[in-house]
Amino acid sequence: MSTTRTILICSGKGGVGKTTSTANLGIALAKQGKTTVVLDADFGLRNLDLLLGLENRIVYTAQEVLAESCRLEQALVKHKQEPNLCLLPAGNPRMLEWLTPKDMQSIVSLLEKRFDYVLIDCPAGIEDGFKNAVSATREALVITTPEVAAVRDADRVIGLLNIQGVAPVQLVLNRVRPRMMTNQEMLSVDDITDILALPLLGLVFEDEQVIVSTNRGEPLTLGDSSAPAAQAYHNIARRLQGEEIPLMDPSQARRGLRARMRKLMQTKIF
Ligand SMILES: Nc1ncnc2c1ncn2[C@@H]1O[C@H](COP(=O)(O)OP(=O)(O)OP(=O)(O)O)[C@@H](O)[C@H]1O
Ligand SMILES: [Mg+2]
Repeated sequence: MSTTRTILICSGKGGVGKTTSTANLGIALAKQGKTTVVLDADFGLRNLDLLLGLENRIVYTAQEVLAESCRLEQALVKHKQEPNLCLLPAGNPRMLEWLTPKDMQSIVSLLEKRFDYVLIDCPAGIEDGFKNAVSATREALVITTPEVAAVRDADRVIGLLNIQGVAPVQLVLNRVRPRMMTNQEMLSVDDITDILALPLLGLVFEDEQVIVSTNRGEPLTLGDSSAPAAQAYHNIARRLQGEEIPLMDPSQARRGLRARMRKLMQTKIF
């Protein structure tokens, strides 16, 4: 049996950070020496290629691999700076009309022969695109933000993953704003883990650098960014491999800032 970890990155609600997480985790795992492929299963609105800055290097896609009009190796796009990472691009949006769970399973089983990690970037929603992707995975990471609507959709998705026997299913909490959480303007980390009853694999703070890096096509984990979000994704990649790394605590993050501020005030020279 293959020892590959195949992990679906899904959410239910759109725009919560699935593609961002797939790109950053893919790079982080590759940097940690794991051969990793990211599969864009968002055939309708693909953009994993853009986030990775690989859009100009696509020749073939999953569609030609399935049609056997090219070999898998020809369709895989290797990342120049991080050669342990490859992208298998999504094909034409019309693939949505005919793609079946069996097709997804056959693409993924080809990838499982070659890589340590297969990360599948799932489309939003719970329709056919989601169902096809779920049918081909073993594990899942559910991404949510601390917003009520995102958490409700995550709950629905977790139910569907459980029915399909996907395990383990772990949670990544994205776009956390420590100030809003401590002011109780957002659901807290405990609220969310209580509601969803999933192990929390990591939390990623709201971070402008994520948006900048997305626009540049250079995931934050690619460079030696000290941005908290880069650190968060590196930690998530380590925890995936079983390392025990303490979770960031939003209230501590605020206390840390306050302590730094106090120190600055004490050393102020007039
Ligand atoms: N931690 C973060 N801090 C700031 N912005 C973020 C963060 N995570 C994601 N974003 C931004 O949120 C937007 C949506 O992210 P992304 O495309 O990864 O979501 P998605 O779940 O894949 O969306 P879709 O459902 O449309 O596929 C992007 O503009 C991204 O830069
Ligand atoms: Mg996406």
